[in-house]
Amino acid sequence: MIEPFRIKSVEPIKMTTRAQREEILKQAKYNVFKIDSEDVILDFLTDSGTSAMSTAQWAAIMLGDEAYACSRSYHKFNDAVKKITNFDYIIPTHQGRASEKLLVSVMVKPGQIVPNNNHFDTTRANIEYGGGIGLDLVIEEGKQPNLDHPFKGNINLERLEDTLKKDGDKVPLCMITVTNNSGGGQPVSMANIRAASELAHKYGKPFFIDACRFAENAYFIKMREDGYQDKSIIEIVNEMFSYADGCTMSAKKDAFANIGGFIALNDGEVARKIQDLLILTEGFITYGGLAGRDLEAIAVGLEEVVEEEYLRYRLRTVEYIGEKLLNAGIKIVRPTGGHALYIDAKDFYPHIPFHQFPGQALCCELYLEGGIRGVEIGSLMFGKKDEAGNPVPAQMELVRLAFPRRVYTQSHFDYAAEVIIDCHKNREKAKGLRLTYEPPFLRHFTCEMEQID
Ligand code: F0G
Repeated sequence: MIEPFRIKSVEPIKMTTRAQREEILKQAKYNVFKIDSEDVILDFLTDSGTSAMSTAQWAAIMLGDEAYACSRSYHKFNDAVKKITNFDYIIPTHQGRASEKLLVSVMVKPGQIVPNNNHFDTTRANIEYGGGIGLDLVIEEGKQPNLDHPFKGNINLERLEDTLKKDGDKVPLCMITVTNNSGGGQPVSMANIRAASELAHKYGKPFFIDACRFAENAYFIKMREDGYQDKSIIEIVNEMFSYADGCTMSAKKDAFANIGGFIALNDGEVARKIQDLLILTEGFITYGGLAGRDLEAIAVGLEEVVEEEYLRYRLRTVEYIGEKLLNAGIKIVRPTGGHALYIDAKDFYPHIPFHQFPGQALCCELYLEGGIRGVEIGSLMFGKKDEAGNPVPAQMELVRLAFPRRVYTQSHFDYAAEVIIDCHKNREKAKGLRLTYEPPFLRHFTCEMEQID
C-alpha cells in the first residue's frame, strides 16, 4: 500500500553525522528531551500535536473567525464534534489535560476513585492533584507484552463491577481510554465499551471516554470485531460514543491539529459548572483558549480522520515496522497498536540491569546510530523507590516510538527499522546509565545522566 496523500509542502531534515550526535548527546546529558529538534532526524517522541495538516485544514485556517464570542468558527467546530460524538454540550479547551482538569474539578472530590482501563499520565495526575485515586483495571492480557490478543485495551469487567459494588459510593464516574496509550496503544472492543457502560449505569455512574485516538480505535473494531466489517468508521465511532455520557479529547491526536481539545457531555448541570470554570481558566465558552483558526483546523481534521484509506495506512504503518523488527528477532509489544511501537528494552539489553535504565540506553543508541528520538517508558520514567530509597523496577522496560500522523514516508520507516536492527546487532556494546541529577518528580523530563563504562 502507499501513503494516501501527496506532499505539497516540505520541511527539510538536517542530517547529522554519528560524531556530531555523540557530542550532542553528551551535551544533552544523555536525556533526549534536551536535544534540539533541529538535531533529530526522525522524531518519534510523540504523536501529539505533531501531525501534518492537510491543504483543506490550512485553507480553513484562513477562514478563522476570531470574534470573542459565538464565532462562525465555533459553530463549525461544534457541528464537527457533534457529528462524531452526538453529545449535547461541546466545550473547547486548549488541549486534553485542560479538559481533564475541568472534568476532575467539577466531578471528583478528595478520596474518590475513578476507574479506567489505564489512565494516561495527565489524567491520573489531575485526579491525584484533586485528591482522588486513579484506578487502572486493564485486563491481564493487556499487561503482557508478548501475548497476542485483539483488544488488549479492554477493561476488566469483573474488577470494575467489584469496585462499583464495594466502593460504589466513592466512584463519581467511570472512564475508558481509547486506544489505551499507557498500555501500548491497544484498542478497546465495542463489546467491552458497551459492557463497561452498562455496568457504570447499573450503579448510577456516568461513563466517560478519553477519546484521543477514537478513530484508530474504531478502525481496529472494524478489522477485528465480528459484526463491524461492513460498517463505516463514522457508524462505529457514533456507536462508541452512544454508550458514553461524555468524553475528554486532545485534538492534538485524532483531529490532526497542532493544538486544541474539548470536553463534550450530556449533563447540562455539569456542563454549566465546567463552562463557569472554563471562563476563569481557559477563555469564553465558545473558544476555550483556542484561536478561531484552531477551531477551524480541528473541525476539518475530525472529518478527515474518519476516512478509511487514511486509517488503513495509519495502522498498517505501525504493523509494517513491527513485522520488520519481529522478523529480526526483536521483541515488541504485540500486536502493534495504533499510534506507536513499543520495544521491549529488557529483552533488547539483558546485560543492563533496570537501575542502569536499559530503555534509556536504547533511546541513546537509537539517537547515536540514526538520529532517531523515542521515549523511555520504564524505570527511569516511573522512578519508583522503596522506603529505604533504593530503586524499584518498573513493570516493563519499554521504548516508545510514537508516529506523527501523515509526516513520515515508508522510506523513513524502512530507515528506522534498519537503525533499530543495527542497534540490536551491536547490542552487547550498549552501556547502562547513571543519574547525575534528578528532580523530585517527573524526573525523566529534566534529569541528567552519564554512561557507565
Ligand atoms: N489522554 C491520552 C490517552 C493521551 O495520550 C494524552 C496525551 C492526553 C490524554 C493528554 O492530552 O497532551 O493534549 O494534554 N498524550 C501525549 C503522548 C502527550 O505523547 O502520549 P494533551
